[in-house]
Order: sequence, then C-alpha cells, then structure tokens
Amino acid sequence: MDSLTPMNLDALIDSAKAARLQAYAPYSNFQVGAALLAEGGGMFVGCNVENLSYGLTTCAERSAVFAAVSAGCRRFTKLVIVSDSKQPVSPCGACRQVLAEFNEELEIISVNLQGETIPANLSELLPRAKTGILG
Ligand code: THU
Repeated sequence: MDSLTPMNLDALIDSAKAARLQAYAPYSNFQVGAALLAEGGGMFVGCNVENLSYGLTTCAERSAVFAAVSAGCRRFTKLVIVSDSKQPVSPCGACRQVLAEFNEELEIISVNLQGETIPANLSELLPRAKTGILG
C-alpha cells in the first residue's frame, strides 16, 4: 500500500484515538495514541505507558513500534499520533531514533482532538539518523 487514501487515514486516526484512551498516564495526565500503517495494510497501535520511576515511561509511538515488531512486522509507511493538545505533538527524540531504525523516511501525521493535522517526514525530524553508528 503506497498511498494513503482519505478513508484509511481516517481509519488510522480512529485507531490512534481508540489507543489513546488506553493510555496509562496518571503522572502527566497527557494521553497519547499512535497507529502505524504497515506495508500490506496492517495496522498496529500503541499508547503511552507511564511509570512511577518517570524515566521508564514508554511513549505511544514506541509502544506501536514494539507491538508491530512483536507481531512480526518491521515495514511501516505511516504513523498517526493523536493527542489532546493545542498543537499536535511531534515524536520525542528517543522515538524518532527508534522509528528511524525501521524507516528513515516514515511519514508522520500528528493530529489533535480538534482535528488539526501536521504532516512531517521522519527524515526532516531526525536527519542522518544512522550516520557513523557502528561504522
Ligand atoms: N508522549 C508520548 O507518548 N508521545 C509523544 O509524542 C509525546 C509525549 C507521552 C510521554 C508521557 O507519558 C506524556 O506523553 C507526557 O510527556
């Protein structure tokens, strides 16, 4: 699946919204949902999972990647992130690096509950993600 039709973008947004409602975020009260579109049309979702030891928190984006990889899928083309924020959220640096592991050109669509949308390509958010590492 190469192009994102309006219909499957809506499906990704709906799935990310549903995943957001599963977020475990008692410390920040900031719930985030993510939906990853796999090549071939599969979809994997994630939510943020916080911890009393704050640094152990996992963001929605990484939860979605880990769900996909755990199910045997390593090829994704799009990521939708949903949050209840004035501006749609962009993935944190750690998530950018984890996403780049699998697709440095991933298309990312950040959406808020008002329906505002910010598209980005991972290569702009994290240029040269792998340059020199282990080289
Ligand atoms: N969070 C995400 O899950 N994804 C983002 O893109 C931004 C931040 C989570 C981490 C933490 O649980 C809460 O939002 C506040 O930072």
